[in-house]
Amino acid sequence: MTESDENIVDRIVDRISDRVSDRKGQEGQGAAKALDNDLLLRALMREPVPRTPVWIMRQAGRYLPEYRATRAEAGDFMSLCKNPELACEVTMQPLRRYALDAAILFSDILTVPDAMGLGLYFETGEGPKFERPLRTAAEIRNLPIPDVSGSLGYVFDAVRTIRRELDGRLPLIGFAGSPWTVGTYMVEGGSSRELGTIKALAKDDPASLSALMDKVAATTIEYLNAQVESGAQALMVFDTWGAALAPDDYRRFSLASMQKIVDGLIREREGRAVPVILFTKGAGPLLTDMAATGCDALGVDWTTDLSRARAYTGDRVALQGNLDPATLRESPETIREGVARVLESYGDGPGHVFNLGHGITPDIDPDHVGVLVDAVHEMSPRYHR
Ligand code: CP3
Repeated sequence: MTESDENIVDRIVDRISDRVSDRKGQEGQGAAKALDNDLLLRALMREPVPRTPVWIMRQAGRYLPEYRATRAEAGDFMSLCKNPELACEVTMQPLRRYALDAAILFSDILTVPDAMGLGLYFETGEGPKFERPLRTAAEIRNLPIPDVSGSLGYVFDAVRTIRRELDGRLPLIGFAGSPWTVGTYMVEGGSSRELGTIKALAKDDPASLSALMDKVAATTIEYLNAQVESGAQALMVFDTWGAALAPDDYRRFSLASMQKIVDGLIREREGRAVPVILFTKGAGPLLTDMAATGCDALGVDWTTDLSRARAYTGDRVALQGNLDPATLRESPETIREGVARVLESYGDGPGHVFNLGHGITPDIDPDHVGVLVDAVHEMSPRYHR
């Protein structure tokens, strides 16, 4: 790794700290009208709330017929992501059906490597693919750090359009993938069960893998901060594949790069905190390490009880989760029982955001999502007295 590579993230973090302190001198700048419903932002900061807020990972998606119709209108998934008006439309769709407490930007974690020139495309039924995956140290060395304002401008346009459309009703969550998870797609060239190629890189040439993690982290810092400057009010980092690594490698490659991101983010805007949620699927006891990054909240999947997660993290962070998405295939009564168990597992007090433990799948009956959301509204107030 060259000296300049090593310093990329540090330089970006310094530049952002300068911008953040500049902004602190401009009181009142951008102070927007108060949110009608700020339960999500309060819960993520572990402030008291009258009930547990709820949103659903992948709440805009194929289980909704109106989503499939809008995607057809756009032509395909990437054209939908790149059209700010239609991306706004699908972001709003689940909010019209359910009493959710947040909107999440409609986009994908793989827009970042697409902007780095890898050529993202989707083949129906096969998931994401890259035309030019990264395989060699030289390819990683030559990988450009893109100017996100140009190449990802369509995402920031979508954020501004969604904020305008939300008109202060609910907060908007922005997001990105973790460098490790994004890196798995960049190196493997698509979805992979074994992650054989990137794990071989970790073993044979860890310096090149670290250089790749640094480049993706640097780009992701700029990308997330531009989402905040365009109107995102909370941020989530999706690390879907971190737990595929042995714990030491997880800390070295996945957690270290998420730490750099946490350190580089704008944490206050429009006069209030911009909470940061980290989600490593399957983290288990590693939640303890994640809580030490200085993030505000952790996503928890269904393989760890929230009571246990709370013990791992010592109430230092809020927790988001964690109903098994498969529960949504069951009867309304079973869904309600599942909701009751998750609420009981977290227990009393603030700092819980209800969600699934991972994204909703395309086969779910939309009415079942309504059962979940209504159950959280009905059952959660007693944990906040
Ligand atoms: O939560 C939301 O509603 C926001 C939208 C969102 C999408 N992708 C839209 C999407 C978010 C937050 C993501 C994140 C994402 N993308 C992750 C991390 C979260 C997770 O679920 O683990 C990952 C690993 C990806 C990469 C990705 N994008 C894959 C593997 C696939 C194909 C698998 C699938 O579900 O088809 C996508 C495509 C994708 N991203 C779709 C949607 C709605 C489906 C595309 C379609 O409409 O055909």
